[in-house]
Amino acid sequence: MKRLTDNIIFIGFMGAGKSSLAKALAKELKTIAIDTDKIIENMESKKIKKIFENSGEEYFRGLETKVALWLEKSVQNSIISTGGGFIHVKNLNKIGKVIYLKSSFDGIIKRIESSPKAKEKLAKRPLLQDRKKAKELFEKRADIYESLADIAIDIEKYKSEKDIIKKLFDIIKRGA
Ligand code: S3P
Repeated sequence: MKRLTDNIIFIGFMGAGKSSLAKALAKELKTIAIDTDKIIENMESKKIKKIFENSGEEYFRGLETKVALWLEKSVQNSIISTGGGFIHVKNLNKIGKVIYLKSSFDGIIKRIESSPKAKEKLAKRPLLQDRKKAKELFEKRADIYESLADIAIDIEKYKSEKDIIKKLFDIIKRGA
């Protein structure tokens, strides 16, 4: 069945600002923001950190696959933010227009550490605990993000979230 309206789906490494941007963009576009991690936490009645601790990463990835199928089948005209590893799902490009929030690893770390909630943001992400491993993961994923993206936005070029939203509006208006 052909989809009537496209979603926008943000991908990118942990801490790139996908959820916050999705919420801000949805507000501007008067539509709804959906976050895949939040859905999973609701499905399990547990925080992501606990899901990793209790059931492991593979189980979590299975939940992401389930959410991806639901998004493709049932969600339209929404702005979706994803976990950094959501890119393993097979149907990502069928869910909507994929926008990659691109940044260097150092840019990501700087972004998290300069946030007023830095401690909390680091603590809730199991795959960010070991900085060396996180960097390896980043390097492994960089090309995958790039290859899945309909549009890549280099977030380090922008001073604020507002500026990124402006850029997104330009892209949407151009119908890209
Ligand atoms: C993950 C990213 C997290 C969350 C989980 C795994 C990853 O989301 O889904 O901890 O594999 O990159 P954020 O990208 O919002 O941190």
